[in-house]
Amino acid sequence: MVERVQTGIPGLDEIIGGGFPRNSNILVSGGPGAGKTIFALQYIYGGAALYSEPGVFITLEEPASNILWNLQNFGWDYNSVADAMKIFRVRVASPQKFRANWINEVENIINLVTKIEATRVAIDSLTALVKYLGAVPLVGGETRGIWAYDPSEVDFYLYYLLDKLKELGVTTVLTSAAPDERLRFSTFGVEEFIADGVIRLYFIPPHRAIFIRKMRGTRHSNRVHPLAITEKGLQVYAHDEILWEALK
Ligand SMILES: Nc1ncnc2c1ncn2[C@@H]1O[C@H](COP(=O)(O)OP(=O)(O)OP(=O)(O)O)[C@@H](O)[C@H]1O
Ligand SMILES: [Mg+2]
Repeated sequence: MVERVQTGIPGLDEIIGGGFPRNSNILVSGGPGAGKTIFALQYIYGGAALYSEPGVFITLEEPASNILWNLQNFGWDYNSVADAMKIFRVRVASPQKFRANWINEVENIINLVTKIEATRVAIDSLTALVKYLGAVPLVGGETRGIWAYDPSEVDFYLYYLLDKLKELGVTTVLTSAAPDERLRFSTFGVEEFIADGVIRLYFIPPHRAIFIRKMRGTRHSNRVHPLAITEKGLQVYAHDEILWEALK
């Protein structure tokens, strides 16, 4: 039996065989405002508050103060779980410094994960991480801040972190910005292949929906389910269905 990690999102575990496979990487993909950050935060907060599973929320996108807004917005009491939930802000001074500093930053992350014995990590977002890890100056453009994306070393730098998290038994959620096309899951087109699971969130007004694209080792729902953002956070309707055509 594959051990399951309960997600903390009501209704979701039911459509993925009880939860994420323990020690997996799960990509949570969607357009702007689809609920990716809330998903990642609810996973970490739920771990700490409901399941005695400490977690680290790594943010590249938003400052810690924005994360606190989200927590307050849903009435999630950060102070009561502060020992079991840490917010780690990865600073981005410049793309060039980012890559040079990444190995150090990974040490800091791993130290924190080890210190609080975290079994959950969320990275918001993988898209930003891949972008900065792949940033190279265009010849002559460096001083003017003109950068290109070079994928050649991104895998190495990315797996430098992801492999260590796997070794530590962590189950990781990675958020991914995707265009509003139903079957696109990422910006760079590589992010979905590093993941053991891919979950797509949609916000096509007035519908919010969730679809499990893949989940290794799991018999998951093949249907598109309604999703809501309520005053308590995300809620999946496991017994209801949204037609694929409604997502155009
Ligand atoms: N209390 C609430 N009730 C209902 N909807 C809410 C509530 N709080 C936030 N939302 C919705 O959640 C959206 C923000 O979700 P979130 O930050 O998770 O999106 P995201 O997918 O991370 O977007 P981005 O790509 O911009 O990072 C808001 O735009 C709003 O539509
Ligand atoms: Mg976000």
